[in-house]
Amino acid sequence: MVQIRPAAAQELNRLLQRQQASAPGQASVVYLALEPGGCADWTYCLTADQPPPQSTTTLNCGDLGLAIPTDQLDLVKDLVIDYAEDLMGGGFRFINPLAQRTCGCGNAFALNPDTPVTQDCTAPNLAAV
Ligand code: FES
Repeated sequence: MVQIRPAAAQELNRLLQRQQASAPGQASVVYLALEPGGCADWTYCLTADQPPPQSTTTLNCGDLGLAIPTDQLDLVKDLVIDYAEDLMGGGFRFINPLAQRTCGCGNAFALNPDTPVTQDCTAPNLAAV
């Protein structure tokens, strides 16, 4: 079961309200998808704007609906989504017990502990760390 911590829910609700102000009538659903590649095997894409093109399953997470591509549910089954502010600004944090390695910013992960993972998006090539 995906868990959305209160700080993340508050930020997602803020994004949804902004989205609904610009496009009234849209459903109160946030979309989470995993895209292959990037700084590890999978990168989290969390948005209130546009559904992923795949078939999705919507989970009830408190007062939020979280739509996830059905074929990716196994990759996020115990995911925790949090939100934190630091000196660089605010951002969502993803805690996934299935992640064997995580990139430097925490937005990408690998399922295999031997997968090279980048610690910096600006790195020219993936490098083992
Ligand atoms: S996605 Fe590149 S360092 Fe995290």
